[in-house]
Amino acid sequence: MKRTIIITGGAGFIGSHVVRLFVNKYPEYKIINLDKLTYAGNLANLKDIEDKPNYRFVKMDICDFEGVYKLMQDEHVDGIIHLAAESHVDRSIKDPFTFAQTNVMGTLSLLQAAKLYWESLPEKWEGKRFYHISTDEVYGALEMTNPEGIEPPFTTKASSGKHHMAYGSKFFTEDLKYQPHSPYSAAKASSDHFVRAFHDTYGMPTVVTNCSNNYGPYQFPEKLIPLFINNIRHRKPLPVYGKGENVRDWLYVEDHARAIDLIFHEGKVAETYNIGGFNEWKNIDIIKVLINTVDRILGRPEGADMDLITYVTDRAGHDMRYAIDSTKLQKELGWEPSLQFEEGIEKTVRWYLDNQEWMDNVTSGDYQKYYDDMYKNR
Ligand code: NAD
Ligand code: TYD
Repeated sequence: MKRTIIITGGAGFIGSHVVRLFVNKYPEYKIINLDKLTYAGNLANLKDIEDKPNYRFVKMDICDFEGVYKLMQDEHVDGIIHLAAESHVDRSIKDPFTFAQTNVMGTLSLLQAAKLYWESLPEKWEGKRFYHISTDEVYGALEMTNPEGIEPPFTTKASSGKHHMAYGSKFFTEDLKYQPHSPYSAAKASSDHFVRAFHDTYGMPTVVTNCSNNYGPYQFPEKLIPLFINNIRHRKPLPVYGKGENVRDWLYVEDHARAIDLIFHEGKVAETYNIGGFNEWKNIDIIKVLINTVDRILGRPEGADMDLITYVTDRAGHDMRYAIDSTKLQKELGWEPSLQFEEGIEKTVRWYLDNQEWMDNVTSGDYQKYYDDMYKNR
């Protein structure tokens, strides 16, 4: 079946993996990457697919309602996979307005453009889909509980019946109430509500997913894992917030992209699915793994760089623990993460060390010239 899909935020970290997967896997689809190219957008992330005949890049702000509406009409768009967002919690603490503008108003602009265009067609909503990518951070923070006196992490059983390590007995499930704490998660929560409202009010075929922290190639080095790999390589201090005790649930980015593919095609309309790999880690433990892995690969004595760890003032409102229960997705659609964390981290560290040019272009700002060099005169 032919389809024309807009993927927003396709020049960013997760978006670039989703664009690559769809362009390669579905040559019969037309994939339009709609991205404003903020500081977080890097077209070099898509070098390997930019000349494929089923791929088109459009530099556009999702807040540009007229532009999005016209693009949908011109291209006969029948699906939207919406990833464009401001995504970094620390930036949201300094500049909440930009987060409300892009994450809330931008999402509303896309929804309204899609509504007007799809409602104008004879078949209306049939064969259409608006897929909104959200985050587990909308649920707020979980406690580090300590049942029966056992020190976390302890082995526990998720509702899937599988055993895994956890830092608490509660998990984020789809029916949990939203309790966002940061301006980032508050803006994402608001956008999720708008998406549901467009289903409930107008009947738009929507689907929402809330995923845990992603890691892997092409992540902007303001986020923990790429920032620290680069700092260890260059023997620069590693700023650990607070005591490094906060827990995050990590998923390899390609596993997230596979889940998005599955849910875009087979997820039920108006449903929410949580995506995560039951993989909780304390920040400080991940940081030690990163130091040992970088040191080993670079031939340094393992652990030689432990003294780079520098405890700094904690992030304001720092959420203690995130932990996703993805049983619904696993049971209903049969998705499973493909990589163990140890393999994923090894792959990721090797990728950043092997792609120093990519990293240097990002840290120097040169990556922002890529659009002018490659696209301006096309
Ligand atoms: P990112 O910051 O790496 O990329 C965001 C992309 O959106 C960039 O290419 C940027 O240019 C683009 N963009 C920003 N504002 C725009 C606008 N106004 N118009 C058009 N494009 C714009 O983000 P990411 O980490 O890849 O996250 C992608 C999505 O997944 C976000 O919606 C985020 O909330 C969600 N998410 C991220 C994670 C994670 O761990 N990174 C986890 C769960 C959910
Ligand atoms: P981050 O990658 O920013 O993702 P998020 O805040 O969305 O979870 O941060 C992951 C964890 O690492 C989080 O608990 C904050 C912590 N952190 C540091 O300790 N130091 C840093 O320099 C950064 C960027 C994050």
